[in-house]
Amino acid sequence: MDKILVKESNKLFGEVNISGSKNASLPILAACLLTDEKCVLSGIPLLSDCLAMKVILERFGAKVIINPLRDTITILPSEAAFTNDIPFELANGIRASFLVMGAALARWGRAALPMPGGCNIGLRPLDLHLKGFVALGANVDTMHGQIMATAQYLMGDKIYLDFPSVGATENIMMAASLATGVTIIENAATEPEIVDLANFLNAMGANIRGAGTNTVKITGDKKLNGANYTVMPDRIEAGTLMAAVAMRGGKVFLRGINAEHLKPVIAKLREMSVEVMEDAQGIWVSSNGYEGLLPTEIKTMPHPGFPTDLQAPFTSILSLTRGNSLVCETVFENRFMHVPELMKMGADIKIASRTALIEGVPHLSGARVVATDLRAGAALVIAGLCARGVTEVDNVYHIDRGYYKLEEKLQSLGAEIMRVRGERQEDVVV
Ligand code: EPU
Repeated sequence: MDKILVKESNKLFGEVNISGSKNASLPILAACLLTDEKCVLSGIPLLSDCLAMKVILERFGAKVIINPLRDTITILPSEAAFTNDIPFELANGIRASFLVMGAALARWGRAALPMPGGCNIGLRPLDLHLKGFVALGANVDTMHGQIMATAQYLMGDKIYLDFPSVGATENIMMAASLATGVTIIENAATEPEIVDLANFLNAMGANIRGAGTNTVKITGDKKLNGANYTVMPDRIEAGTLMAAVAMRGGKVFLRGINAEHLKPVIAKLREMSVEVMEDAQGIWVSSNGYEGLLPTEIKTMPHPGFPTDLQAPFTSILSLTRGNSLVCETVFENRFMHVPELMKMGADIKIASRTALIEGVPHLSGARVVATDLRAGAALVIAGLCARGVTEVDNVYHIDRGYYKLEEKLQSLGAEIMRVRGERQEDVVV
């Protein structure tokens, strides 16, 4: 397995292009199953999660053509058909595999998928997705580890989500786009990726209003057409790089990111005394490094609150910020797996239930640590930039699920970081 080696680095300077959003790309790829016409998607990052979704679409019989020179993926779903033959390893490998459920159910009246896996961050039940399908008229059953849903037809309904789940909102939006009548999702998730999916579905001819608010109204149609679409920039990649600059210091321009998507993150960074300037092309971040940062309190919340996906990188920053900080994780019940790893590097953190109590230490020291999920992995990488000596991050495949060329982007800013392929030192990618 690959590892990443990070050395204590100089301050970061330069410019980075922000990649397309993983969490927008995955539902948008799944939504291509709602039509039999060609879809051309631009900006999809070629991450392992997106490539796994490509294989899932191919299992349904869709043709998927990647054109790296044009930065497009073309999906030709005309020969796609119902299948219950999605391998366990594939579905278990990415949580987002379940996002094809709504599209397949709406298109073929039946869908069957192995229970999905994904990041090691909590139980992650699917009850809200399934309640949504049932409300639209589907029968849902679980047998031999497979979830099956069938419906003679789907009929719009009013669906209240007990929690504004991103995936459930997306799955219901997709299924309802081909249902008869009107579906209203109340207490819907409002994340920017929901708006991006709604924009794509509307480009396919769907009629979705209110995406980005708590109430989404979907007027179903019999057929959707193909569409060309560019996915939104990845706000979590941008937020992670902002955290790296805040902690290590320097001045970096993040090109292509929409500051509107990062409001809670920008507000928190400014509170910690990081300078953030927004312009039409992106965001400038500038910081003197962790020595000059102020401690703070962070509580993760569904959008527009502070994103859970940036909790781990911010925990890294606060482990070196002089004073006491609090980080409260309210979205996932088990998302502090990076904390024992940061403690191996010398961080002083105590966990009490869903809260991390952090006492900033004067320095971290490089250690051998394990990426337990993708955001945890990125948090360890940015901690390594500020730790004395060398930090060796194992299980890098987690990072590759969600960060496109992270080490190359950091290298271009002056970070001392390299990937070691397998066990062979000579395979280092510079
Ligand atoms: N939940 C339920 N029942 C459900 C669905 C969710 O109880 O049926 C709970 C979950 O267990 C969790 C909370 O609701 O405690 C939030 O889950 P949500 O459904 O909103 O998350 P998701 O759709 O599974 C997406 C992202 C995650 C991101 C969350 C929250 C994708 C592919 N994944 O997951 O991204 O953390 O929304 O913003 O879009 C990541 O990129 O590292 C990542 C984990």
